[in-house]
Amino acid sequence: MRSGRPVFEALSGHSPGRASRTPPRPRPRRALALLVPLLLILSACASDAPQDSLEPEGPIARTIDNLVNPVFIIAAVVFVLVEFGILYLVLRFRQRKDDDPDELPGQTHGNTKLEIGWTVLPALLLGFVAFATLATLFDIENTKDDGLTVQVTGQQWWWEFTYDTDGDGDYTDEDVLTANDLVIPAGQNVGLEITSRDVIHSFWIPKLNGKKDAVPGSTHPLMINADEPGTYVGQCTEFCGLSHAYMRQRVVALPPDEFDAWLEDQQAEADEPTDEAAAMGAELFASQCSVCHLARGINDDQFEEAGDGTTELVSENAPDLTHFVSRGAFAGATFNLWDDLDGDQIVEADEIGFANGGQLDTANLEAWLRDPPAEKPMDPVTPEEVETGVRGRGMPNLNLSEEQIDQLVAFLATLD
Ligand code: CUA
Repeated sequence: MRSGRPVFEALSGHSPGRASRTPPRPRPRRALALLVPLLLILSACASDAPQDSLEPEGPIARTIDNLVNPVFIIAAVVFVLVEFGILYLVLRFRQRKDDDPDELPGQTHGNTKLEIGWTVLPALLLGFVAFATLATLFDIENTKDDGLTVQVTGQQWWWEFTYDTDGDGDYTDEDVLTANDLVIPAGQNVGLEITSRDVIHSFWIPKLNGKKDAVPGSTHPLMINADEPGTYVGQCTEFCGLSHAYMRQRVVALPPDEFDAWLEDQQAEADEPTDEAAAMGAELFASQCSVCHLARGINDDQFEEAGDGTTELVSENAPDLTHFVSRGAFAGATFNLWDDLDGDQIVEADEIGFANGGQLDTANLEAWLRDPPAEKPMDPVTPEEVETGVRGRGMPNLNLSEEQIDQLVAFLATLD
């Protein structure tokens, strides 16, 4: 890449051709060496970071924060004392000009008081840290949910959330499925049962609790609780392939009565669209999308005929789109589905839905339908692979025309 060379020269202060005649000028490199740590330090100073684990917004995350702070202070004091002690000793006992370089300094060995001191003191400190850590672990472990448990399923590269709405104790059949947005009632302990359909992922909402791995074949419990209604973001924190960086998740905490209304709405089937373009879009959806996606009330038969979404994907599952536009984001919460009206980078509950005065981000949706793998790295099946039974990861480019895209967007906009 030819254009890379001037940048290299600017950073390193010399070019390969000139190096043999003039010595390299080290100054730009030194400036860079100073700049990098400075940028790192400054980047830690963001005043409003939505994934800041040091600003808990729920009781469970606060319990962890109450452990982190004293442990950090202890570690910082020990660090400063040890580093300054080393600097002091190095300076105090360095070799001086009039010292004989061949003469060894006075050798000392054994100071019982010191040795007991530097054994007992760290043991006490570590004992305190261990005690506080165990107390925190048990405290979190003994937190009971307030009646709601949601199954969280990671897959390449999005999260599915299942609510046991028929109350049969498992997460299949007629239960509510949603994706990307985990909707919970604020101020309540909500139990999560975390698992995976393909590889290992990790679920993390820094402001609400620590991380928990999503492992295929196992279920791991995690409890979250948000003090206030709001939208709390996180991302998959276990490398899981091509789009690991585009596997995000959002927790939308609603006031408890709004949550109940939301759960009620989610159980309804989608309405047949009445608008002409949307009706064309619904037909197109049933013919083009039924291999992976279900919108209950629209393409149930076609979806079942095509194998319930199991044939094309390694995870054997794609997002249920019955209430697609009730979510704030799509494609692994990578793209906003509604406009971020207040400009805080996060689409909140009051920006979702036409009734709320929300505006659907049709540009994002159109770009996605035009060529999904161009928007987010994926490895979808090719038609040849489908023939041989090979499965893919993610959504293929369906080569839709602009007219078809408009019709699909008109249809998707009705899935509230
Ligand atoms: Cu899923 Cu990283």
